[in-house]
Amino acid sequence: MNISVAIDGPAAAGKSTVAKKVAKILGYTYIDTGAMYRAYTWYCLTNGIDCQNEQASVAVVDRVKIQLLPNDIVLCNGIDVTKPIREPFVSANVSYIASYKDIRLALVEQQREMAKSTSVIMDGRDIGTYVLPNADVKIFQIASPETRAVRRYEENLQKGIECTLEEIEADVRKRDYIDSHRDFAPLKPAADSVLLDTSFLSVDEVVDAVIDIINRKLKEKQ
Ligand code: DC
Repeated sequence: MNISVAIDGPAAAGKSTVAKKVAKILGYTYIDTGAMYRAYTWYCLTNGIDCQNEQASVAVVDRVKIQLLPNDIVLCNGIDVTKPIREPFVSANVSYIASYKDIRLALVEQQREMAKSTSVIMDGRDIGTYVLPNADVKIFQIASPETRAVRRYEENLQKGIECTLEEIEADVRKRDYIDSHRDFAPLKPAADSVLLDTSFLSVDEVVDAVIDIINRKLKEKQ
């Protein structure tokens, strides 16, 4: 039987780091839905499309082919965009792209397809509420904005992405606002999700907590 685990939460809450580790331990497939919105944003920015113009951004929906490959590789129309989609110029625009219903519908269809054939851990903003409403386990992972900014800042430094802590904190707060105030499938906890505050936990502690939640929920379902 295929199991589906939804991990939602605000920007830079450590969802992908944790989801990747848990997926490896449990042998599930990890699906980073944020990378898909980022790849779409990268396409618009590199093709002179204004991400704040909904009509122009939606018009190219059939021209943007996104693939998630093993080892976190992201392709956009066959081009490896794994690194550029993490750059600040993409982060600063991705929430606009993610607020357009027609783009979401196209990417959500792909996400649901990926979850059909295998056990998955999918992270994003609307996985438990919209993409996989029947997910076996739903977790809403949070941390204070300050903690999240520091974590993303350190992650970027490791990846060689230039930025300042102030820029990151401003970006995280702005994205949280846009992501949770959009009309269609906004960021919010599913009614049946488990809230996990990671502000004072190490990565390994969060991984253990997530695995505990998964085991408990799967036992309850038996
Ligand atoms: O998880 P992330 O920071 O890489 O996501 C980038 C942006 O994409 C985020 O600001 C909101 C959007 N997003 C979304 O709206 N729905 C998802 N399922 C995943 C990401």
